[in-house]
Amino acid sequence: MKHDTQVEILEELLEQLEQGRNIDAGVQVRAPVDTYVCPEVAERERDELFRNHPQLIGLSGDLPETGSYMTIGDFGIPILATRDKDGHFHAFLNACRHRSVQVATDARGTKNVFTCPFHMWSYRNTGDLVNVPDEGDFGDVDRACNSLLELPAVERDGLLWIHPTANGDLDLDELLGKDLAGELASWALSDLRYTGEYVIEKRLNWKFANDTFGETYHFQKLHKNTLGQLYIGNNLHLREFGRHHRFVTANHAIRDLRETNQAEWLLSQNAFVLYYLFPNVQLLVAEDNATLVRIYPDADDPSRSTTKISFYFSEEAIALFSAAAADGAGIDDVYDRDAVENSFGLDGIMEVFYSTVELEDYEMGEMQQRAAESGIIDYVVFGRNEPALHHFHRSFRDALGLPPCEIVAVAAEETA
Ligand SMILES: [Fe+2]
Repeated sequence: MKHDTQVEILEELLEQLEQGRNIDAGVQVRAPVDTYVCPEVAERERDELFRNHPQLIGLSGDLPETGSYMTIGDFGIPILATRDKDGHFHAFLNACRHRSVQVATDARGTKNVFTCPFHMWSYRNTGDLVNVPDEGDFGDVDRACNSLLELPAVERDGLLWIHPTANGDLDLDELLGKDLAGELASWALSDLRYTGEYVIEKRLNWKFANDTFGETYHFQKLHKNTLGQLYIGNNLHLREFGRHHRFVTANHAIRDLRETNQAEWLLSQNAFVLYYLFPNVQLLVAEDNATLVRIYPDADDPSRSTTKISFYFSEEAIALFSAAAADGAGIDDVYDRDAVENSFGLDGIMEVFYSTVELEDYEMGEMQQRAAESGIIDYVVFGRNEPALHHFHRSFRDALGLPPCEIVAVAAEETA
């Protein structure tokens, strides 16, 4: 990110702190709860926002070398993602051209050739069919017409994008827009190594899960003893990029920032920088690490979702945190503000994040889900200090052609 932009955002966050206020959207928004429980809406979401929409499936570090592959089942069809011998990224329908059995079943690994377990037809990681056993008995098979069926796939600036439909439109310039694409490129995400994934399956609609990432109002309440030890809360910068947005909130280091030279200000050292990428991705970035959160609706049940949290670090950060872990530091040290910087291991950093999401945020979401299913509540309210949630619900409703949420104007005496 340009240094000017980093300074601008930090100035905005400092101003809020100095004036003792949070961001102000000027209005509240009422979001109808039927969209969290309605099977018809859920079916349309799966079809229009997931199966027929470009999808970010990971970072380049998920396919770290030639021959790396991943299997993906998040969009209702089996998908195989590969990196071929020339380093090119591909996505295929994970189905043999003979009788449609999956040619790969492990979540990830390294293979140059995939062999179907049923009759052992085999394919290169470029999709080419290379062997048909007993072809004399089977009859001729035209190799050229029987490659794995390829799906649109683009690797750009360290991000792996696919479209889960054979002829789907995967135009990243159009999807992201120039400003956001340029900003994502500036974080050097292609240099990061994948260090692990944590999967959360809970009884909450994917949008309740997503909503927990949309405001900092709760940081000093729900997360008082966890994330609240690291981040100030009630403090937010938001910039919309079409249906996506940039969400930044300060950590405690910002309190000393005015005493330093502005030319040396670094956003990621003083704040948590997150990009929401429509419809279901929260991407947290810093100079030497990134965390990718992908939230998927259940295939059948609107009340369930799966969250996949993947972690990525630079080689230098991995070396640094591994050394710290060898000293025996753990998760408690992460929350100890007086602890020596970096005195905790990689596992501690990852655990802080996923355990907060699973044990704090999503516990709230499960309660919200039950209440939404009561049929007694009509809507939930997003405050003036929760504009990222206004934006998410506006975007998702607009994408599905649903009427906009009700906006509650601020009373005249409040603005006077
Ligand atoms: Fe939270």
